[in-house]
Amino acid sequence: MLCFICPLCHESLIENPQGLRCCRGHQFDRAREGYFHLLPVHHKNSRQPGDAKLQLQARRRFLTAGFFSPLANAIQRHLPMSTQCVLDIGCGEGYFTNHMARVLNNAAQVYGIDIAKEGVRLAAKGSRAFYAVASSYALPIADHSIDVITRVYAPSKDSELVRVLKPDGRLIIVTPGQDHLLGLRQTLYQHVRPHPEPQAPDGFVLEENHQLNFELVVSAGALTEALLQMTPFAWRLKEEASREMVASGWRDKADFTVSLYRRA
Ligand SMILES: C[S@@+](CC[C@H](N)C(=O)[O-])C[C@H]1O[C@@H](n2cnc3c(N)ncnc32)[C@H](O)[C@@H]1O
Ligand SMILES: [Zn+2]
Repeated sequence: MLCFICPLCHESLIENPQGLRCCRGHQFDRAREGYFHLLPVHHKNSRQPGDAKLQLQARRRFLTAGFFSPLANAIQRHLPMSTQCVLDIGCGEGYFTNHMARVLNNAAQVYGIDIAKEGVRLAAKGSRAFYAVASSYALPIADHSIDVITRVYAPSKDSELVRVLKPDGRLIIVTPGQDHLLGLRQTLYQHVRPHPEPQAPDGFVLEENHQLNFELVVSAGALTEALLQMTPFAWRLKEEASREMVASGWRDKADFTVSLYRRA
């Protein structure tokens, strides 16, 4: 039994050879890459919502090179081996979701949702995780079905987190720390604005909070280019400056806040 519910009538979705179907006859076909499209047209605010294709492809190149593997390992440490269902909200191209699918045993169901179809398409290819194009503000996920929710740099709605999480479930939120890509931010802004401190979502209490810092040494060429393309604020760089950076490579800091919450 899957945790997906029908985005139209909220009944359970049952797998069939073509995809998923609810008892009222709403059918959602499986895409070639294996994901489902569970975003009703009226939840789509633009033609291509979410992160852009180029940005997602650049993130895929940068992450598969292993730069954020310390963060994938930190998330893994918060996953109990008894986890039955985990949901990654705003999964992007699926780096962290697929890492969880690999480290949890095969009986554990791993779900990833993102509003950007291109991200979900990349994520689903060759993965055992269940992926859907969906909005984090109206999750197509059954009430109280999830043991662990992860949310890495993505938005969500507090009441939806409470609704889908089991009463004893845990929520892991990763946000950028004060020093995250500080070098790049200092190149771009005269006054670097600090990232806001993470706040506990309504209905949750903080159980554990830790900083994860490490050096990023990015080689010249394709990987520095990928870093610039995946970073939303890097479009501000003058062409000349970004060409120089790509030619010489880039050293910077990664700094994340990893917060573990329980239901209040
Ligand atoms: C900075 S990316 C992080 C992606 C991924 N968690 C990672 O760390 O690689 C933020 C993601 O949130 C997604 N997103 C933005 N708004 C969303 C929404 N309303 N529902 C679902 N996903 C959303 C974007 O499409 C994007 O893939
Ligand atoms: Zn339905």
